[in-house]
Amino acid sequence: MDYQKICRAAEYLRPLLPEIPQVGLILGSGLGELGEQLEEPFCVIPYEEIPGFVRSTAPGHKGRFVCGRLSGVPVLCMQGRFHCYEGYNIEDVVLPVQVMRLLGAETLLLTNAAGGINCSFQVGDLMLLTDHINFLGHNPLTGPNEPRLGPRFCDMSYTYTPSLRKLALESAERLGISLRQGVYLATAGPSYETPAEIRAFRIWGADAVGMSTVPEVIAAAHCGMKVLAFSLITNMAAGVLDQPLSEEEVIEIGKAKGHILQNLVRDILAHLSEE
Ligand code: HPA
Repeated sequence: MDYQKICRAAEYLRPLLPEIPQVGLILGSGLGELGEQLEEPFCVIPYEEIPGFVRSTAPGHKGRFVCGRLSGVPVLCMQGRFHCYEGYNIEDVVLPVQVMRLLGAETLLLTNAAGGINCSFQVGDLMLLTDHINFLGHNPLTGPNEPRLGPRFCDMSYTYTPSLRKLALESAERLGISLRQGVYLATAGPSYETPAEIRAFRIWGADAVGMSTVPEVIAAAHCGMKVLAFSLITNMAAGVLDQPLSEEEVIEIGKAKGHILQNLVRDILAHLSEE
């Protein structure tokens, strides 16, 4: 963990932001549109302009910060995130989260596209993450700890903040959105899983599988942020249906169903003060 690098990026961004962000938003594959809907005052900062940041190469990811208000709440939104499969060091994947924290964000809200492992799920379902399984083979906190950010051994018992989950369930009910709940398992990718892996993951208790979110959530838990995360089930995981998986399907379902997730996030933010 390179604390100087985190500070340099935060110092670069601070004078550019119209106000202190309260919530960091990380928008997943095909779900970045929410960043276009931020209210004034706002600013856009491409990752490549920020010292220490790498470029976002994943499909459906724009690669920039957008800062503004959503439902009146000051947010700093990542339109596009970094993944280990892009070849980046896991420290680079979580750098934006640590920078958000130094800039003042107390809460991290993430969305991702995921494959459904739980056979009762359907394509297009939304899942509220209750917990995760780290199958990446890496942990972003490996290496010397930075006590100014968080503790050496970070408790992960209540990572997906119970009070925020309650708020999300209330919002879903208010909007008539059926919200699944479950455990997200992260693989390093970029190949999709084999049917045998999916069967194994199901036995472990995973409900959905994807290639993101877990690094950022671990970093957020470490630096004391509250966390709320959602998966859009863009496909059933390998072997659940007798058909191959396709990247096009993932992006397409993201575009078709993303607006439901956007409405949910907007409503949650509108009620954040009730948490
Ligand atoms: N596996 C891994 N990552 C994914 C999937 C999947 O089935 N769908 C969307 N992201």
